[in-house]
Amino acid sequence: MPQHSQVNIALDVHDLHKSFGDNEVLKGISMQAKDGEVWSVIGSSGSGKSTFLRCLNLLEMPSQGAISIAGEAIEFKYNSQGLILAAQRQKQIQRLRTNLGMVFQNFNLWQHQTVIKNIIEAPIHVLGTDKAQAIDEAEQLLNRVGLWDKRDAYPMHLSGGQQQRAAIARALAMQPKMMLFDEPTSALDPELVGEVLKVIRGIAEEGKTMIMVTHEMRFARDVSNQIIFLHEGRIEEQGSPQKVFNESESARCRAFVNSVH
Ligand SMILES: Nc1ncnc2c1ncn2[C@@H]1O[C@H](COP(=O)(O)OP(=O)(O)OP(=O)(O)O)[C@@H](O)[C@H]1O
Ligand SMILES: [Mg+2]
Repeated sequence: MPQHSQVNIALDVHDLHKSFGDNEVLKGISMQAKDGEVWSVIGSSGSGKSTFLRCLNLLEMPSQGAISIAGEAIEFKYNSQGLILAAQRQKQIQRLRTNLGMVFQNFNLWQHQTVIKNIIEAPIHVLGTDKAQAIDEAEQLLNRVGLWDKRDAYPMHLSGGQQQRAAIARALAMQPKMMLFDEPTSALDPELVGEVLKVIRGIAEEGKTMIMVTHEMRFARDVSNQIIFLHEGRIEEQGSPQKVFNESESARCRAFVNSVH
């Protein structure tokens, strides 16, 4: 009998710590996202939201803790005090990173390449996809994010909203198991936010696992299964949108969500 009810854990984080010198920015973060879930991370500036996301794909090396992606634990090397020094196997990191699509606040497109080149570069060079197939898939993605007509444009000739949609298409081209978004709309003019949120909502509705740092509270409430409120590197509140936005036991969380509504 096939097991229809089996749910896989997409991301398992256990007691994650990160220090920059003496400054401990993450103080023991644990979470478990199931396949297809959308998690939003909220909290005030400096609470550690970006650092948390960056630790997940090892753009920052955590100091302590454990991370598993799709059931595979990241292997670390430790120093004599048990602190993480580095990844054990670079090959593993490269492979796991291809499973994580990251979208940044400032788009991070390659400025000297056209939109389509931005999208096909990694599938061809990292996944080994045939060029014609990569172009075909890129065009489908451009259609999906409403940018087909911009395929040959350079990023500098696009609006911020268009650049961010191109960046999302670029991340999706790697067919990642999970998408990480770090404030994908906060660098945009207000009138451009909606078009990007619409694309992100579409990805969520297709069942992609997503971890998203955002200040768009209404959006977070609409699309998320779970919300984490970070305060000074700790999870101060976590739960359903209803719980975090309406029934939080944390006075800080209540004050935060009221201040940004
Ligand atoms: N590379 C770094 N070196 C030293 N300190 C850092 C580094 N990156 C982040 N920090 C510090 O870690 C803390 C948390 O930063 P982080 O960028 O994670 O916050 P954030 O919640 O994303 O804030 P914001 O909402 O402003 O983006 C801050 O005090 C910051 O100065
Ligand atoms: Mg940040």
